[in-house]
Order: sequence, then structure tokens, then C-alpha cells
Amino acid sequence: MAVAEPMDATPFLPEAGATLDELARAVEECRGCPLWRGTTQAVLGEGPLDARVVLVGEQPGDREDVEGRPFVGPAGHELDRALEEAGIDRDDAYVTNAVKHFKFKERGKRRIHDKPTYTEVGACLPWLERELEQLRPQALVALGATAAQGLLGRDFRVTRQHGQLVESELAPLVTATLHPSAILRARSVEARREMHQTLVEDLTAVAKRLD
Ligand code: URA
Repeated sequence: MAVAEPMDATPFLPEAGATLDELARAVEECRGCPLWRGTTQAVLGEGPLDARVVLVGEQPGDREDVEGRPFVGPAGHELDRALEEAGIDRDDAYVTNAVKHFKFKERGKRRIHDKPTYTEVGACLPWLERELEQLRPQALVALGATAAQGLLGRDFRVTRQHGQLVESELAPLVTATLHPSAILRARSVEARREMHQTLVEDLTAVAKRLD
């Protein structure tokens, strides 16, 4: 009989109160779900301990898996542009992901992004909760549907509810907006421009509310 894969990162967490550096080391040993297989490394978040805003993406992409840092590929460049236009310095923000390992399918030599399931996101969330315990940010922004639904509930619809403030224990100010990758996948230049503008507007609204 096949043995069910574990689906919970909790047994791999370090002791309560572990620092971000300790979390970054411990997450490399996480086997709380099968997604670690075939990856280069786990990718914890990055940014200063006193960051006022935490941005949560879906999962590391191919570049992030190789470099071990979040949002350093094409989606990261789109995010950087939007943050700059919104008046948020990326160096003042903590950027992380709901899932810490890159989930992919192999197509020849290429690794193609594969969306993590709701169960995989749930299994990985204890890492994000520990990051947030250390950071205690003023604002948390979920980027895209995977992070939004994992953090704010399965019924959350980013297309309809982006930019809305959500009641949550995660931070005093919680909201969701478009994922930068969705903008890069837009079907036309016009659609891309509009989506980029939406991301900038949602981030600007957050920036204005920060102390
Ligand atoms: N997409 C994400 O959601 N996170 C990254 O770190 C990179 C791409």
C-alpha cells in the first residue's frame, strides 16, 4: 500500500522565536510536502526585520529556485517597477512566498511553473506564519490568487476583490492584488498596461496607509 505523503511543515519548524536566519536555514530541511523533490533549494523571504509591508507571492520560480531569493526573475522585475511607481522601496519591504519550494513540470530541458494546490499551500503556511511573527508588519499584501486564497480563504477572488481591506489576524492592514506574473501573461499590450496600473494603484493605496 502506498504511504501517504506528509502535508504539514510544522514538524520541520525550529523552536518558537527562531530568527529569520534560523528559519531560512531550517526551511532547507523541510520535507513537509513532496514539493522539495527536484528543487535546488527552498526560498524563504527576504527583506529587513523592520519592514512595514510584507508582500506574499505564490512560490519561487525557476530563477528564484536557482538563486535562492524571491522575486528575482521576470515577475520580480515587474514587481520592482510597480513598487517604485507606488512609492514603496523594495529594500523597505519584505518579499516572500506562500510556498517555499518551486513546483514545476519538466518539458524536455525546461522546468515549467506548476500551480501549487490548496493543500500544498496550507502545508507550507506555518513558515509564513513564523516569518510574520518575527516581522509583525503593518501591512500584508497577497499577490495573486494562490496567496490570497491560501491566506484569506478559498472564496477570495482577486479579480473582484483586489485592493479591498480584509479583516485578518495576519497584520493590521491586509489586502490582495494582482500577481506580477499575471501581468506578464496578459494577452495584449493594453491589457498589460491596465493590469500594471491596477497593481500600482493597489500598492499606492497601501503605501498611503503606512505610518
Ligand atoms: N512568482 C512568485 O510568486 N514568487 C516568486 O518569487 C517569483 C515568481
